[in-house]
Amino acid sequence: MHMERKTLYIRTYGCQMNFHDSERIAGILGTEGYQLTDRPEKADLIIFNTCSIREKAEQKFYSDLGRLRKLKKTNPRLKIGVGGCIAQQEGEKIFKKVPYVNLVLGPQNLDILPELIGTEKGTSLEDRPVHVKTYIPPQRLDRIKAWVTIMYGCDNFCSYCVVPYTRGRERSRPWKDIYREVKELSEAGYKEVTLLGQNVNSFSRNLEEDIDFPDLLYKLSEIDGIERIRFITSHPKDLSRNLIRAMKELQKVCEHIHLPLQSGSDKVLQLMNRGYTYRDYKEKVDFLRAEIPVIAITTDIITGFPRESEKDFEKTVKALKEINYDGIFAFKYSKRPNTSAVKLPDHISDKVKAERLSRVLEIQDEITLKKNKDLIGKEIEVLVEGKSKNYEDKMTGRTRTNKIVNFPGKTDLVGKVINLRIIEARHHSLEGEIL
Ligand code: SAH
Ligand code: SF4
Ligand code: F3S
Repeated sequence: MHMERKTLYIRTYGCQMNFHDSERIAGILGTEGYQLTDRPEKADLIIFNTCSIREKAEQKFYSDLGRLRKLKKTNPRLKIGVGGCIAQQEGEKIFKKVPYVNLVLGPQNLDILPELIGTEKGTSLEDRPVHVKTYIPPQRLDRIKAWVTIMYGCDNFCSYCVVPYTRGRERSRPWKDIYREVKELSEAGYKEVTLLGQNVNSFSRNLEEDIDFPDLLYKLSEIDGIERIRFITSHPKDLSRNLIRAMKELQKVCEHIHLPLQSGSDKVLQLMNRGYTYRDYKEKVDFLRAEIPVIAITTDIITGFPRESEKDFEKTVKALKEINYDGIFAFKYSKRPNTSAVKLPDHISDKVKAERLSRVLEIQDEITLKKNKDLIGKEIEVLVEGKSKNYEDKMTGRTRTNKIVNFPGKTDLVGKVINLRIIEARHHSLEGEIL
């Protein structure tokens, strides 16, 4: 049968999981004859893979969507689909808000896409716990590093967060499926995998298999060709000594952990339903550093959570100084639909949230720069990823601790692990030279 060639444009917002879902969307539509384009005006189908984590992400999507509306006039055959977390959250309401949208597809229903694209107004939003077993071969954008989802959804219900509502209940993939995928990646020449889940530490909680996340790391480490294993995200309450031991023992597991603190105040942590105190958290960090001295630790911080007093905020500042993170992502608290924090008393004004955010960023900038400067003169192992985006004549790679290093070098180094000497440090990257 002759398959008509069509073009697909995907715009992605949000976390790595969403970016990886876009690779799966491209994979599944590739088998239907769709080819990716990076120009929306050339597309027969445009998919917005949306994020709902903060109001800003949502606004960005609606304004981008509005801007592409004119393309419907120039190409009457054009279809527009909305996937991801806003699709799940809003459902059919999107058709009312934006009548020129054709499809609304939740993150658990990517495999239904081929059936939907034939319809004029299609939705697929059901909770489908079995979809963890449906393997959709992704069309990956990178040849060296690959994302591998190990679990879907989240059961933690942090009081500010939409993810449990948009991604549904926590479900892990059977470990053999994950193993097979990583094996195939190694055969295809990939060097690095990043295991994805909202809370990778609770991997397998729903499985009947007798395996936990550290066990999975041991198994995946056996696969030849894969040189580096990363994972994201770890919830502090579930970070076990076994995981720390696995990180220490397994050569392939990189010395980096993203461990979202959110706040340094126990009162706020409790209101957030995070399930740990600052002290619990700090003890884990101390243990991590005692076992793996070179480990890089990064975090997420929310400023201006409801009822966060000046005193509570000072505790976050103190925590940042005490822990000395390698990097942070910080956000102003944003009210989200369905979440319980919306109902808390004493919401903080935007002005105060913004002031606290800039203070946090300023403090961390200084810490990050100092940490990066400490690396000057040191020899560091880097996996070369490709040409530098910021410097035309340079290559770029990452250290095991997930820091970006730019250096003069040739493109035949891509995919190789090499040693560099660090010669300069910036806020968000390092400069190196080949040894
Ligand atoms: N599962 C991961 C993170 C998912 S969301 C975890 O638990 O760590 C990524 C980050 O977005 C969160 O760590 C949090 O800092 C931030 N975030 C989530 N909801 C938010 C909200 N309503 N307002 C501001 N920041 C939010
Ligand atoms: Fe959201 Fe908390 Fe789940 Fe992370 S652990 S996705 S912050 S509910
Ligand atoms: Fe956003 Fe959904 Fe990821 S809300 S951060 S795309 S899980």
